[in-house]
Amino acid sequence: MATDTGLRTAGDPQGMLDLVRRLPEVCRRAWALGADVALSGEPPAAIVAIGMGGSGIGGDLLRTLLLDDVSIPVVVVKEYRLPAFVDAKTLVFVCSYSGNTEETLTAYAEAARRGATCVAITSGGTLRERAQANGHQTVIVPAGIPPRAALPYLFLPMVSALSRNGVTRVLDEEAAEAADVLAGILDDAELDAPSNESRRLAAAFLHRIPVIYSATPFLEPAAQRWKDQLNENAKTFAVWNTFPELNHNETVGWGLDADLAARLAVVVLHDGREAERLRRRVEITRDLAFARAGSVDEVTTRGTGALARLLSVIAVGDLASVYLALLRGVDPTPVAVIEELKKRLSES
Ligand code: F6R
Repeated sequence: MATDTGLRTAGDPQGMLDLVRRLPEVCRRAWALGADVALSGEPPAAIVAIGMGGSGIGGDLLRTLLLDDVSIPVVVVKEYRLPAFVDAKTLVFVCSYSGNTEETLTAYAEAARRGATCVAITSGGTLRERAQANGHQTVIVPAGIPPRAALPYLFLPMVSALSRNGVTRVLDEEAAEAADVLAGILDDAELDAPSNESRRLAAAFLHRIPVIYSATPFLEPAAQRWKDQLNENAKTFAVWNTFPELNHNETVGWGLDADLAARLAVVVLHDGREAERLRRRVEITRDLAFARAGSVDEVTTRGTGALARLLSVIAVGDLASVYLALLRGVDPTPVAVIEELKKRLSES
């Protein structure tokens, strides 16, 4: 594959690769944005994050990040309905980059009706108008980029707001570490090296279906993000699952025909610190199930804090998805099918 400079001018006219490379800077800005959110009154009894697609994955990341840290439920809503428990004691983050996603707006209207404390995170649209009319706090993020490339803006302000307001532990240092770790992964020299991990993975994915497995539930949203980015950037099918759950069903599915198994490219996402039993499960599953896969690779998180570990493995996948688009000769930026679907829905 050519160097990044060559690739940028040829196959990536709208600059998706540049957007991925800007992740460290976006992380720093996104962290600062959440600092202005003031949560007054009683501590929340539950946290809900509403959002779809590129604006929903931030909620999944929030849930996994807070699992060991806060003693209240953290629930992600990716549909029109709002769970029955949501009431005036619930803190609801409403995330939509465009501000015009109908599932998100519907669930938000119900949260507002129930008197929940709502914080909208958006670049504008109807969500911004409604949140301002309702007197709800809004975090306004920069407009003009594809929502999936704005991931830090749809994730970190929630974490920063919870950290600043004492709902979770103080995470400023971990956020700074995450940006630094990303800067290392996205460094020019590292990216241009032919041995670059993301380039290697893109080559393994070519003509195969990527199968992304998280070795630990902590990395489940990262596996999902890899799948989503492969779908939207590389315009290809991909699947994801997580250990240990996949050992109770999907592992049996590896009994599929040999020519189909050879079409699957497995990547196992590891956190350097997963429990020994999980590590053992991956080893045995490699042996029992992946033997006939077209390729098997392992990617390990970098950094110390939870934010760096999550975002580092996401950055490797984001890059691989753009490199795969370039290998396939498809423009990583447009998502015409999503646009068309939204258009047709709005007309009906
Ligand atoms: C597009 C993308 C989509 C959108 C989703 C929701 O880049 O990633 O998954 O994020 O259709 O739209 P927004 O983010 O505007 O609420």
